[in-house]
Amino acid sequence: MENEVLKAIKERRSIRRFKSEQINDDELKTVLEAGTWAATGKGTQDPWIVAVQNQEQKEELIRMNAEIMGVSSDPYYGAPTIVLVFASKENKNNVKDGSLVLGNMMLAAHSIGLASCWINRADKMFETEEGKALLEKWGLKDYNLLGIGALALGYASSHPHTIKERKKDYYRIIK
Ligand SMILES: Cc1cc2nc3c(=O)[nH]c(=O)nc-3n(C[C@H](O)[C@H](O)[C@H](O)COP(=O)(O)O)c2cc1C
Repeated sequence: MENEVLKAIKERRSIRRFKSEQINDDELKTVLEAGTWAATGKGTQDPWIVAVQNQEQKEELIRMNAEIMGVSSDPYYGAPTIVLVFASKENKNNVKDGSLVLGNMMLAAHSIGLASCWINRADKMFETEEGKALLEKWGLKDYNLLGIGALALGYASSHPHTIKERKKDYYRIIK
């Protein structure tokens, strides 16, 4: 079977080269809204999404993430927008809920011609004093949040050439 959703699922790829041009607000809101429609355990809508386009704060995130990675390069690949997803530490479904939000946003981004890549280390970044100060700045300090993940988001400046086949026994059907 084939339809637009299935096509987007198969065609989405992680993009690691971005144009410096910023995406427009309609595009950004479309992606964020798709995140808000992700399923959540017990329907709690527990995750929080923060899209950062502020240059100073992006530089702070880049530095924090690079320090944890032990590199001097930009872990967000120069993407003009960084989208962070958080969920409550007390919520047993926090990682699952937040991951689904990120997955929805990656697919939505691809479906409207944007490029994205999941970027790790949000958990460690927001355990630091600097990370906690950012959460406070964003009005999220009272929710005891765990960083689930982030997206580098923007327009692609190049696409991957080689795409991995799916492993042969990825699924099995038991009848
Ligand atoms: C949980 C998770 C963490 C990831 N972390 C990073 C990361 O820190 N940096 C990065 O470049 N890609 C990261 N990725 C992207 C994967 O490398 C990518 O999804 C994988 O290679 C498959 O490629 P595709 O997304 O194009 O299918 C992450 C993906 C997931 C799901």
